[in-house]
Amino acid sequence: MKVALIFYSFSGNTQKVFEYLKEILLSKGCSVEFLQLKPENEPKNFFKQGFSAFTKKKPKLAGEVFYDLKDFDYIILGTPLWAFTLSPALRSYLEKAKNLENKRVSFLFTYGSGAGLNKAIRELKSILEEKSAQVESFASLEGKKVKERSYLEEKLKNFCACSSSG
Ligand SMILES: Cc1cc2nc3c(=O)[nH]c(=O)nc-3n(C[C@H](O)[C@H](O)[C@H](O)COP(=O)(O)O)c2cc1C
Repeated sequence: MKVALIFYSFSGNTQKVFEYLKEILLSKGCSVEFLQLKPENEPKNFFKQGFSAFTKKKPKLAGEVFYDLKDFDYIILGTPLWAFTLSPALRSYLEKAKNLENKRVSFLFTYGSGAGLNKAIRELKSILEEKSAQVESFASLEGKKVKERSYLEEKLKNFCACSSSG
């Protein structure tokens, strides 16, 4: 199975989760493409970050970014919850992503207090459904707990085809 792991992470929490997923997938013999999104002009200030998320900005992404998902069997997307919504980097990516039709997709958020989480989940699900993706599952993880392996195992055990329960 060929899996795309595509995510944005500013302070490292979402990245930690994706490194865990990568490790699990590789141990199951999957082939993995790991794509960490980064805006060219990434705001470092909390208020600018929050504003750009809240106003649904779509910044230009830096580096080599693959947008054509034709060759993947399964796609996992991840983002921190920012201002009750997804990060601008993931929003930009999804605007340009191609061949998501009928693709199996799972997504996850990492969050702080959890304020706005349900709204953000609904929003990302609807963006994916507009692209005719087949949303398989979603998860949400508390950012400050993602360093605990047992927390990752517990939260992701039924998350995707790569989880321990299959
Ligand atoms: C600009 C900004 C806005 C945030 N907005 C929210 C929010 O609306 N709700 C929430 O629960 N957490 C919010 N958080 C907390 C992050 O979602 C959380 O710390 C996340 O795990 C960070 O992921 P990262 O380390 O991968 O960047 C916000 C953090 C930042 C920097």
